[in-house]
Amino acid sequence: KDISVIGVPMDLGQNRRGVDMGPSAIRYAGVIERLEALKLNIEDLGDIEIKRPDRRKLNNEGNLRNLEEVATGNENLALAVDEVIKKGNFPLVLGGDHSISIGSLAGISKHYENLGVIWYDAHADLNSGETSPSGNIHGMPLGVSIGIGHERLVKLGGYGPKIKPENIVIIGARSIDEGERKLIKEKGIKVFTMHEVDRLGMSKVMGETINYLKERTDSVHLSLDLDGLDPMDAPGVGTPVIGGLSYRESHLAMEMLAEAKIITSAEFVEVNPILDEKNKTASVAVGLMGSLFGEKLL
Ligand code: ARG
Ligand code: MN
Ligand code: MN
Ligand code: MN
Repeated sequence: KDISVIGVPMDLGQNRRGVDMGPSAIRYAGVIERLEALKLNIEDLGDIEIKRPDRRKLNNEGNLRNLEEVATGNENLALAVDEVIKKGNFPLVLGGDHSISIGSLAGISKHYENLGVIWYDAHADLNSGETSPSGNIHGMPLGVSIGIGHERLVKLGGYGPKIKPENIVIIGARSIDEGERKLIKEKGIKVFTMHEVDRLGMSKVMGETINYLKERTDSVHLSLDLDGLDPMDAPGVGTPVIGGLSYRESHLAMEMLAEAKIITSAEFVEVNPILDEKNKTASVAVGLMGSLFGEKLL
């Protein structure tokens, strides 16, 4: 399958500047060349336009920071992703903060009966305006995808919810807010926290994840937040949490997904080159993409 790369210079889903430069940093780290070396056909569609309003004029609705701007950018992303799938290509979305998952999933989910999601992240991103401690929409996209949150986001792209709670697997969680904890229990969302990763090992965690999703889904979107990795391996993120997934565990996870051939779309988000060390985090992201698309040593 051919891959279409879409950049999303979005930083309005959270508070810190710089994550809008994520797509540039990832391109600079050589994503196109890395995938071309695998004999894959890549097209770079460039960046989605994100309106850059005067920050003093940005307005919150309810407890939702920059709601209108985030929603509009995501509508544009959803249209672009939709086009990519229509022509039979694999959408590879480069963030930008994690609020862009709302647009990715809006463009993807309508093409499948039973889309599954792997949420590789330190956070659950299951907040809504009611439960969010920050008002940052990048902490809400997974909640939005299962139908919880503001109408404007839940129904983005003209339909919703996008995902069934039982089609989600969260991996690497170690910072979960009270409202999110309740929702995970109530909806029975499958979560491998760092506790399970440590107990079982990544090999078993990914094996179980793959079997679980194979049983109940017809396609799987990988949403990889670089803060799922430990800050030692991925320092260039806006909300780092100590005690994360290692570089090696993450490569193993991507290699197992490549072998299982279950991933039908992917996004890599939260790369913030301003907070990074010599573009290390973007380079790690590109390496993970290499493994996801089949790179092997021998
Ligand atoms: N749970 C916190 C919040 O709602 C942090 C979310 C971080 N999300 C992310 N995509 N990095 O604000
Ligand atoms: Mn659907
Ligand atoms: Mn996160
Ligand atoms: Mn996230």
